[in-house]
Amino acid sequence: MSSPPKRSAVTSTVSRAVIPFFNYRGAFAAREDEFLEIVRDVIRRGAFIQQRDLADFEEALAAFLGVPWAFGVGNATDGLIIALRAAGLQPGDEVIFPSHTMVATAASVAHAGGVPVPVDCGADHLIDPASVEAAVTERTRAIMPVQLNGRTCDMDAIERLARDHGLMIVEDAAQALGSRFKGKPAGTFGVAAAFSFYPAKILGCFGDGGAVVTGDPEIARRVKLLRDHGRNEEGDVEMWGFNSRLDNMQAAILHAQFRDYDEIISRRRSIAHLYDSLLSGLAEVTLPPAPGSDPDHFDVFQNYEIEAERRDELRAYLSKNGVGTIIQWGGTPVHKFAALGFDVELPATERLFERCLMLPMNMMVTDDEVAYIAELIRDFYTPTA
Ligand SMILES: Cc1ncc(COP(=O)(O)O)c(C=O)c1O
Repeated sequence: MSSPPKRSAVTSTVSRAVIPFFNYRGAFAAREDEFLEIVRDVIRRGAFIQQRDLADFEEALAAFLGVPWAFGVGNATDGLIIALRAAGLQPGDEVIFPSHTMVATAASVAHAGGVPVPVDCGADHLIDPASVEAAVTERTRAIMPVQLNGRTCDMDAIERLARDHGLMIVEDAAQALGSRFKGKPAGTFGVAAAFSFYPAKILGCFGDGGAVVTGDPEIARRVKLLRDHGRNEEGDVEMWGFNSRLDNMQAAILHAQFRDYDEIISRRRSIAHLYDSLLSGLAEVTLPPAPGSDPDHFDVFQNYEIEAERRDELRAYLSKNGVGTIIQWGGTPVHKFAALGFDVELPATERLFERCLMLPMNMMVTDDEVAYIAELIRDFYTPTA
């Protein structure tokens, strides 16, 4: 392999800065006094499990999405298992999901008793409807689209497939709170959906957290039972359940941030805009669609995932210059984990995993830092004489 070309000097004032991919401590420091007051208040009240703060947050979440029910759960993985079980998935039912996702998507199907069936992704990195169509069998029961990177899939196509084949849709909306397709929020297309509040998520808590949302009264009833040992309000056990409740303290912390959610989304979209304006035109890099470039999509940019030529070299160059990046899920699509036993080739997904790279995208990143990162990337691809 040829050695990398000699590069021009990066001129940004942020040079030699350290820009982590995600600054976990920074997320706390930004609102430290407020968060500590919430923690103190919850502990002083001794209000830990299924208390008022949780109910208030669930109400706010449901109102934001325009759905009748939202339930805080331990994490999105549990949320998806519970959603599938509540929706009546039966042992052996096949559930189609995109292999460009976290293993949690597929694991939720397996733990709910189903058979996860991985399919390919399209140019937008999201589930490819044609690949879904090709994977449908008489055992298929559901499609689990993943609203990845803060972008909602082309849900017209997914809904059409679900209708044509009599399938239910359960959305993995772990990364997509607030994103919309044709004005409709991610998480409101299927019979149920799960969101994640993992610390690095757009709305993140200080530990694990998640939610299940639904518009179906019977699914809502079952989700509520399933997350709390199968117990109803009288204490009677109606079914085998889980212990997967969003902690009251985490709910209070999430609710405080959720009050500013519109500004949070707006800032992330502005970072995406800046990356787009500074990096567009670079032949070696494919950018995600810029905010507002497609009227059907309102993206919230959980991640800013680019595709790049000589991706690993670029990543090393950014790292050498203090910029943290991530290749999602260690660079392995779900269907390629040998232990899981999938036997399928998904060419678009496999090619994507050779090229994809996530740049810093969070509330701690400044405009100057984005400019520095973009300058480094341009510099990397611009050999000097
Ligand atoms: C697409 C996707 N699905 C599911 C999950 C699982 O979420 P959790 O960590 O809350 O269980 C994640 C978490 O990062 C995710 O990115």
